[in-house]
Amino acid sequence: MKIKAINGFKDILPEEVPLWQHIEGVARDIFQRFGCHEIRLPILEKTELFARSIGEATDIVEKEMYTFVEMGITMRPEATASLLRAFIEHGLHVRQPVQRLYTIGPMFRHERPQKGRLRQFHQVDAEVIGAVEPEIDAELMAMGQMLLTELGLSASLEVNSLGCPGCRPEFRRRLVAYLQDRQAGLCEDCRRRSETNPLRVLDCKKAGCREVVEEAPSILDALCPECRSHFDQVQSRLDLLGVSYSLNRFMVRGLDYYTRTTFEFVTGDLGAQAAIGAGGRYDGLIEQLGGPKLPGIGFAMGMERLVLLLQAADNRAERPGPSLDLFVAALGSRAGLHGYRLVHGLRQRGLRAAMDYSGRSLKAQMKQAARQAARHTLILGDDELERQTAILRNMQTQEQLPFPLQADVGQECLQLIDIIQTT
Ligand code: HAM
Repeated sequence: MKIKAINGFKDILPEEVPLWQHIEGVARDIFQRFGCHEIRLPILEKTELFARSIGEATDIVEKEMYTFVEMGITMRPEATASLLRAFIEHGLHVRQPVQRLYTIGPMFRHERPQKGRLRQFHQVDAEVIGAVEPEIDAELMAMGQMLLTELGLSASLEVNSLGCPGCRPEFRRRLVAYLQDRQAGLCEDCRRRSETNPLRVLDCKKAGCREVVEEAPSILDALCPECRSHFDQVQSRLDLLGVSYSLNRFMVRGLDYYTRTTFEFVTGDLGAQAAIGAGGRYDGLIEQLGGPKLPGIGFAMGMERLVLLLQAADNRAERPGPSLDLFVAALGSRAGLHGYRLVHGLRQRGLRAAMDYSGRSLKAQMKQAARQAARHTLILGDDELERQTAILRNMQTQEQLPFPLQADVGQECLQLIDIIQTT
């Protein structure tokens, strides 16, 4: 029986890889423009790290983590907790008061797989640690927006504030009281959540729950003066940068570490999975994880979702892989050996070269050269070796030129490179 990949775990095939590389390239370029440096993090962390940061009562920690229970370790469901663990462990704040970091890689959540939702998925994630100013919040959202724009995508930016440990408990009390009287209208999950994690009820997608929360108290009316002023300034900075957004008082996010600003980039083009990327501020988290008292903010984009949108939006999905500079079609054993050294010599000198080793016919080898998108093919038989002249075919124009063979393969390579680069 054939062994297949695990449900929710997906191979990224060679023809799809150029699109992934394109997304990574654009993300790296933009993040670097904003002064972010890359950090690479392990996939496994102590389970406690996620329980303490994301929160015991969240869906992720309660039921979605891949945990090796006896070892007490978990495959990271997101990057922020790992990044902060590394930040604290290596005392990165000592080097620079404000750290701007980004990371790219796979995350793992045991969710029900569907379009745009996998169990192993990838994020590009950026975090700014050590700055509380609203300019940073707006700048990060502008950076996310720039990433989408430069990829040729559009999404709506939704923004909310979740307040701080000073003002949120009072809002929570008011919300719990409101929900208590309306339990009958809530789904089973939300009835449970209205005790364990009441804010989550606000972003339940079920029609009954939406109806209940429509009239619920708004967190934006419950912000303390400091959070209110911070949020007002975030909005004015977004306006200054020309970033359009809308307020969404129901957005609470599925991770418990957020304070103040939260945001999501949403689209209607991905079915149920509306969020392409999301993030927010987590001013108490670093201290909570045993680090210095420093604020932070960040966001992550889901790469599978970006890929799906790009595939649907345009022909970038067809982006061809790198083509070959030269295919050597060798006929006969002596020619084969000559070609073997030539291909190696070209690769040593930086060209993409290939040949066939299985002694196929010229016709079959020409087909193979075309399939590999070779720009040129050098046709080389034992007869050509005798005459010291091979045939160089330009695969685009079909033009064929005699190519004088040399005793020295190095010389031959240089001459070939010369011709290839000028045609
Ligand atoms: P998140 O909202 O859980 O936030 O995930 C961010 C993005 O990752 C989502 O908007 C979505 O595009 C993608 N994503 C999440 N789960 C899946 C999945 N199962 N399959 C495919 N894509 C998925 C975080 O992870 C936070 N760490 C973001 C953040 C960074 N907050 C502050 N800094």
